[in-house]
Amino acid sequence: MGHTSPGLNLSPVDAPILILIGTQTGNSEAVAEDVAEALADAGHTSRLVDMADALPEMLEDYARLIAVLCTWSDGTFPDNAVEFYESLVAVAPDLSGLAYGIIGLGDHLYDPYFLTAAYRLADTLDEFGARRALPTFEIDKGPSPQDLDGAQAWALRCAEAFEVRAESS
Ligand SMILES: Cc1cc2nc3c(=O)[nH]c(=O)nc-3n(C[C@H](O)[C@H](O)[C@H](O)COP(=O)(O)O)c2cc1C
Repeated sequence: MGHTSPGLNLSPVDAPILILIGTQTGNSEAVAEDVAEALADAGHTSRLVDMADALPEMLEDYARLIAVLCTWSDGTFPDNAVEFYESLVAVAPDLSGLAYGIIGLGDHLYDPYFLTAAYRLADTLDEFGARRALPTFEIDKGPSPQDLDGAQAWALRCAEAFEVRAESS
């Protein structure tokens, strides 16, 4: 697992991949932990942060973000993510230095609200200038072992897509 401390003054490109977790019952946290493990095995440092502990300004300190979040009742954010998302919209940070990918957890049982929170977060990040490195990885009714494998493989592709962006910018 990567680490930062306020005194280090890392530039965003030197910072670990930030993994933000939005969860109601823990599935997204489990997926995020698997993703962090896969990234570590491939030599990438990451930092897992519960959205309840995240501030919008943090997104300006990182060049790479993977958000793992579920959608809750009728398309809303999980409880631990509500305040973060509301302050993100209110603060409107400049995210032109950020590339991101999202893993969304949900269930088609809740159509038409399938993955609504994940898509809303993606739209908001786009609006503030962030670049989507890969299309959202969707988990329906999971996570099954196949979903977990898929999320890990997706995260590795996402990390590669982050590098491409860093080299070309
Ligand atoms: C009460 C309830 C409401 C839900 N609402 C939605 C929803 O509106 N849209 C969706 O895609 N999934 C919905 N889901 C499915 C969850 O997103 C899914 O179970 C997910 O794996 C939960 O992740 P978590 O454990 O990280 O909270 C709902 C599940 C429950 C139990």
